Amino acid sequence: MILGIETSCDETAAALVTSGGEIRANVVSSQAELHARFGGVVPEVASRRHLELVAPVVREALAEAGATLDDVEQVAVTQGPGLVGALLVGLATAKAIAWSRRLPLVPVDHLRGHVASLYLEPEALEPPFLCLLASGGHTLLLDVRGYDDEHVLGTTLDDAAGEAFDKGARLLGLGYPGGREIDRLARDGDPAAYDFPVARVPGRDFSFSGLKTALLYATRDLTADELDARRVDLAASYQRAIVRALVARVREAAADLGSPRIAVVGGVAANSELRAALPDAALAPLELCTDNAAMIASAGRFTTPLAYPGYLGLDAYASR
Ligand code: KG4
Ligand code: ZN
Repeated sequence: MILGIETSCDETAAALVTSGGEIRANVVSSQAELHARFGGVVPEVASRRHLELVAPVVREALAEAGATLDDVEQVAVTQGPGLVGALLVGLATAKAIAWSRRLPLVPVDHLRGHVASLYLEPEALEPPFLCLLASGGHTLLLDVRGYDDEHVLGTTLDDAAGEAFDKGARLLGLGYPGGREIDRLARDGDPAAYDFPVARVPGRDFSFSGLKTALLYATRDLTADELDARRVDLAASYQRAIVRALVARVREAAADLGSPRIAVVGGVAANSELRAALPDAALAPLELCTDNAAMIASAGRFTTPLAYPGYLGLDAYASR
């Protein structure tokens, strides 16, 4: 089994995955509540919490799988991109476990990890496919040609799609992280109540900052009571604009590439309107959309591991 460890942001996660891609355990301890009162992730607070949680989370994953460290043949860990202080906790833990047992270690790119959430059983997808990766930190359109071979077709010029959800949620007076909350409220709202702009940037890129500003203008003069009355319509219209922008780009790219299979991964892939708007797409399973370690272990299956002790000098990286 492969032990996966993920600590790039505010989820402390450990998972056990077989070399065939079966999930034996997938434990995610979210720190979201801890950061909610600050309206976003506080890096230093996240690092400290990872430090407290990482060992119990690894232990829990082993218990859930009915396994011990003797069953672990390889350790896969997120090396970046993410918060460096947070990443270092996972990386140091992975090194310590691998070193103490003379195991190989695979450093995994977090974004590759999201894509690899599609390679897990029971419904593993095989490349090639066109992949939309939409998370809190990234919005990428990827031409995935092989397990170890993806090409970036487009990215966001400003905010990531998840960031647009989170910043929008803040303007609507909702908690952090806001994507799921907007998703929930939008179900009771009228998506045509507000005509929010969908940026048309050249090429395959995305832009969400104009949309966020439009929501700011729509909300800033509302009294608290007015905002309460309009919140569901604002949420529905705002979500509609984000989903439209994502879907339009994906469809255009798919047409250009000769209609490949479309796949969607990352936290925003959990969005119910986005899922409904791409009924023909391979969608990451809900529990594997937001950050987890099963996807990291999964990615580890397709990368050559570093033999003991060649990985001890590995460093984390903040951006790609
Ligand atoms: O992939 P992820 O867990 O972390 C990063 O790698 O960034 O994505 C987190 C993002 C957050 O911005 C969160 O608001 C968004 O995913 N998200 C959603 C939903 N669930 C999570 N956005 C829209 N609708 C959802 N249901
Ligand atoms: Zn992520």
